[in-house]
Amino acid sequence: MGGQGGQPVPITGLEAVRGKRLIVGVTGGIAAYKTAMVVSRLAQAGAEVTVAMTDAATRFVTPLTFQALSARPVYTSAWEHVESKDPQHISLADKADAAIVAPCTMDCMAKLATGRTDDVVCLILSAVDRTKTPVLLAPSMNNVMWAQPSTRRNLKTLVEDGFRIIGPGEGWQACRHVGTGRMAEPEVILAAVAEAVGSGEGGRPELRGSRARN
Ligand SMILES: Cc1cc2nc3c(=O)[nH]c(=O)nc-3n(C[C@H](O)[C@H](O)[C@H](O)COP(=O)(O)O)c2cc1C
Repeated sequence: MGGQGGQPVPITGLEAVRGKRLIVGVTGGIAAYKTAMVVSRLAQAGAEVTVAMTDAATRFVTPLTFQALSARPVYTSAWEHVESKDPQHISLADKADAAIVAPCTMDCMAKLATGRTDDVVCLILSAVDRTKTPVLLAPSMNNVMWAQPSTRRNLKTLVEDGFRIIGPGEGWQACRHVGTGRMAEPEVILAAVAEAVGSGEGGRPELRGSRARN
């Protein structure tokens, strides 16, 4: 995503995220490394980004990476209260302007489609009111996993339930298959987030003046 002279490639409309509170859920897919770029660009654009990770996600990228990029605590457990004395998943969900899960595993799709809440990402999302707050999912998996009848059914349910789906893309996969299932590129995810939060003047005023820092 690097532009000329080390400048990031401009993303149309990304200024819309300035001052917005965004939740980025990371689940256990190989594409989790690309989410570091998504978080970095959102933070540079002035969003307050809170990252939540499943156990599996922490096998791919460390929480420290996301903590450094977001300059915020990273949520890796439902049981460890990081910031709030209230149930933290509720307060995070209540304050969010949008939530994104990238990568969204086959497993996470299944959980969200059936209302499971046994990891911190799904638990937080269970408390997000999608009639007010957009929730975007960027599925990422092997082409055979993507084509499974269970994934097809879950995808249909998720769309009907108001989740917004970004991608997946087609092409080379880490498993050395070529097909549909690779996570949408960071630029595509960023553009979708910007579009979802819109260009209004919402969000926290103290964050609106933020400057690029990563
Ligand atoms: C090396 C490796 C790569 C994986 N990549 C993916 C992937 O890209 N997409 C996916 O759906 N599952 C992938 N998995 C399987 C998930 O990590 C596994 O289903 C896990 O339980 C998902 O947990 P989570 O949804 O709670 O994060 C991978 C597993 C391994 C060992």
